[in-house]
Amino acid sequence: MPRRVLVAYGTKNGSTAQIAETIAAVLRKNGLTVESLPARSVTGDISSYDAVVVGGGLYAGHWRREARRFLRRHRAELAGRPLWLFSSGPLDASASERDIPPVSDVKRAMDRLDVREHVTFGGCLEEGAKGFVAGMIIRSGKGGDFRDFAAIEAWAAWIGAELVERPEEN
Ligand SMILES: Cc1cc2nc3c(=O)[nH]c(=O)nc-3n(C[C@H](O)[C@H](O)[C@H](O)COP(=O)(O)O)c2cc1C
Repeated sequence: MPRRVLVAYGTKNGSTAQIAETIAAVLRKNGLTVESLPARSVTGDISSYDAVVVGGGLYAGHWRREARRFLRRHRAELAGRPLWLFSSGPLDASASERDIPPVSDVKRAMDRLDVREHVTFGGCLEEGAKGFVAGMIIRSGKGGDFRDFAAIEAWAAWIGAELVERPEEN
């Protein structure tokens, strides 16, 4: 039965890290041993994990580079493990209202890897975010926290159930 799960994330302003932490906390409640780590910090072999979740913030139509690199670097180990992906981006309620398809970076990765599912969650951009454009978005009143933690927890619970209740498929 899968025991160890890695949740790796690419973030610029920290909100994707909080989504990853939320997912990790739910999976721990399922009795799994979970590590939630910045994707850039995972440089060694990941074969000690039985399943992997990878998330990235969206910037100008791209998934954060660290998340993309993580998938490339660990392609061989990921091939034999249950893998889920998520994106975090839209600064409006759209992600709570409908399925937002993966951006092209993620779509390409999904063509190469056996991904169980990808989901896009709403994003978050608040005062103090890095970057000139971020400041402009916030000043124009278009920032805010659009992360739907109930939806994030529900998705994580579904992953937990897949890993714990249907171990023969993992
Ligand atoms: C410069 C900039 C570009 C962005 N581009 C996109 C985008 O293309 N698509 C999207 O859905 N969200 C976009 N966003 C919103 C971010 O994805 C959102 O704030 C996300 O939660 C950031 O994640 P992080 O806090 O982990 O870095 C953008 C935000 C900024 C500041």
